[in-house]
Amino acid sequence: MKVHGKPTRAVWLEPDACAVGIIDQTRLPHAFVTARLETLDEAAHAIRAMRVRGAPLIGATAAYGVWLALRADASDAALTRALAVLGETRPTAVNLHWALEEMRRVLTPLRPVERVEAAKRRAAELCDEDVAINRALGEHGLKLLEAAWEKKGRKGRLEVLTHCNAGWLATVDFGTALSPIYLAHDAGLPVHVWVDETRPRNQGSQLTAWELGQHGVPHTVIADNVGGHLMQHGQVDLCIVGTDRTTAQGDVANKIGTYLKALAAKDNGVPFYVALPSPTIDWRLRDGVREIPIEQRDGSELSDVTGRLASGEVATVRVTPEGSPSANYAFDVTPARLVTALITERGVCPASEAGLRSLFPERAEV
Ligand code: MRU
Repeated sequence: MKVHGKPTRAVWLEPDACAVGIIDQTRLPHAFVTARLETLDEAAHAIRAMRVRGAPLIGATAAYGVWLALRADASDAALTRALAVLGETRPTAVNLHWALEEMRRVLTPLRPVERVEAAKRRAAELCDEDVAINRALGEHGLKLLEAAWEKKGRKGRLEVLTHCNAGWLATVDFGTALSPIYLAHDAGLPVHVWVDETRPRNQGSQLTAWELGQHGVPHTVIADNVGGHLMQHGQVDLCIVGTDRTTAQGDVANKIGTYLKALAAKDNGVPFYVALPSPTIDWRLRDGVREIPIEQRDGSELSDVTGRLASGEVATVRVTPEGSPSANYAFDVTPARLVTALITERGVCPASEAGLRSLFPERAEV
């Protein structure tokens, strides 16, 4: 996508080929700041501190993190350590483990002297594959948006609600949930997006709103609890969200609060779609509520809010009483029964084991 008219991905190999470039997402929307990652520890820290975040982007950055580690030491022990360090950065998004497993598969049989170039090459390929996947799932999602627009009699605006950030900032490019929205906007559909603010990290109000604004997509930021009201009043035609891990039976882990949106959508007959690249499917799991590990983050993300003061200075302030503890669950699981359909790079399918396996027949029963 473009930032200030310049094509940009969310992660890249720096032109001197000596470092990995990222956008420091903790600085958005107040400042667009890029950073260079030069070591394994810098890559791991960037993921842990959410300078990069979003399931596909975490995976892509981790793949490059393996390369950074091997540049310093390409031995078997160093490879094992890099995979372990990166694998522990965040627990819920399965793309992280998928990407690391892919790096392990490619690199383990090689001699140390061959590994550095191979790691750089495979990480770059994973990034390109992510872009192609997101573009393809966007095309499939676009058909759903076009159908909804027809169903609405092409009147007014096509009202879409999204939660968290599943745009290009959460991937290498295009995004997952936002990919069909960008394509629809570019095709001339009058899309308007209700953007959940997505407390506590505000990925909606800080990242999704920024992205959509950069691309000129009409949008409105709403508090997290507004969606149900809008749905009751016919102001949402459909919901689209991303996911951090989807089980073989179609249960979906996504940013905390997604489940409540899906319940409200079901109650109001609003279609609830989940857009996902296939590396987000965890074929080993079935019951998402019981089996998907849910990240719990520091309570300060809830008690403290960061914003820009009238003076222009960016500051963090406490918004809860001193002494009140906070519980900060980062994700929840939406059971498949609440999901209208899954949008993948191979097409759209019911959120069910049969649906997913019909698109991915090579995934034999495990
Ligand atoms: O905690 P985050 O910001 O990494 O969570 C991101 C999300 O929940 C996204 O919606 C999800 O990764 C889908 S991204 C394409």
